[in-house]
Amino acid sequence: MSNLPTAAPVAPSEFDPYQPEALADPYPFYARLREHGPVVYVPGRDIWLVSGHAEASSVLRNHGAFVSGDGVTYAGATLRTERFPLLESDPPDHTRIRRSLQPAFMKDPIETLRPEIEAAAAKIAGEAVALGEFDAVEAVATPMPDRAMQLLTGLTPPSPETLVAWSDAVVRAEEPAGTTRHFELLSDALGWLVAEGIGQMPAHCLGHLIMANGGVDGRLDPEGSERLMTLASIWLAGIDSTGALLGNAIDAFIEHPDQWELLRRRPDLVPNAVDELLRYEAPFRVFYRHTRAEAEIGGVTVPAGASVGVLFGSANRDPRQFADPDRLDITRANARTHLAFGTGLHLCLGQPLARMEAASVLTALIPLVERFERAGTPQRDPSQTVRKFASLPVRVVRAGGGA
Ligand code: HEM
Repeated sequence: MSNLPTAAPVAPSEFDPYQPEALADPYPFYARLREHGPVVYVPGRDIWLVSGHAEASSVLRNHGAFVSGDGVTYAGATLRTERFPLLESDPPDHTRIRRSLQPAFMKDPIETLRPEIEAAAAKIAGEAVALGEFDAVEAVATPMPDRAMQLLTGLTPPSPETLVAWSDAVVRAEEPAGTTRHFELLSDALGWLVAEGIGQMPAHCLGHLIMANGGVDGRLDPEGSERLMTLASIWLAGIDSTGALLGNAIDAFIEHPDQWELLRRRPDLVPNAVDELLRYEAPFRVFYRHTRAEAEIGGVTVPAGASVGVLFGSANRDPRQFADPDRLDITRANARTHLAFGTGLHLCLGQPLARMEAASVLTALIPLVERFERAGTPQRDPSQTVRKFASLPVRVVRAGGGA
């Protein structure tokens, strides 16, 4: 078989997902990509982009052909000495590590956090709404994941903003625009964990379970950095991602007041609304896989050594999977088939917690807010991996009262 792309050759810039226009407003770009074919080679970057839902799902499920062990970012894991043990591993290591953590993320243990998550969400929502006008990134998207990850891991970082900067840096470091500053921030985060964080963790928290017990079954390696990097990756994975979801959700309800009105009338739709919001704006734009032998995606042959970018946001707007995909519809029957949490072996470990946080925030806002309005021009964050806001000025029309 030929190693050449079977899709028509394209100019480097035409389908470059890192061009500013595609980052700022990715959905028209994704639509053009999908029209071109579910798999497109971008010669200028030497990457293969997977834009269709079925094809993205098949790549993520075929962990034998599309491995995570060579890194899951644009630059791959080549720039770091320390690996993220779950995210950047394949079976059998991945199986061992995941088994030692999965029980802690099942329904029952995560449910024990619910009273405190709901209380935190109520406080955050109440304080934001009392202001009348606020930046939703600062007032909602930053404090909620900070509190949730404190409850889960037992780690209390220097400040929510510092934790956001650390979490942001993990993915930013390996983007095309990544800088050494991002690596320094990652190194600061690990340094803080070792010097201060680990010593603070109460015995009942996940952080302690990982560091002291080696996970639920004690099989995380006590030698080397496996325990530390496992803790770090869970901790940092839960911040930027959920923050992006929360900011994107409020923006979506500013743009679609009818959907907010519907949610207020039908709070039973909150869980489905969370999935639809994740479908509508996937927090992660892309994760990569690598091939070690020739492989096929949707009838296209990709060579050994290929970097394959799975575009979650595009898969989630694929009209072959979702009718009228550019419409936000909190009643959508198959919203839960979105790929925002990935799928297959690496399906997001923290998704029950992320769902609980988002549902708790929406539930807390429902009785307080009749309508969200813009209070200024929102600023999208320059991250090339996470689709989120740097600032999102909001004015609320309070329920039963004025703005
Ligand atoms: C809305 C919020 C979130 C989104 C959109 C999200 C998204 C994702 C995605 C797409 C993956 C798969 C990556 C891949 O296939 O290479 C993933 C994996 C992972 N996520 Fe999340 N995540 C979120 C929240 C969280 C939270 C709150 C935690 C921690 C409590 C977490 C921890 C992890 C871990 C540890 C993995 C690696 C799993 C593995 O490789 O087996 N995530 N996440």
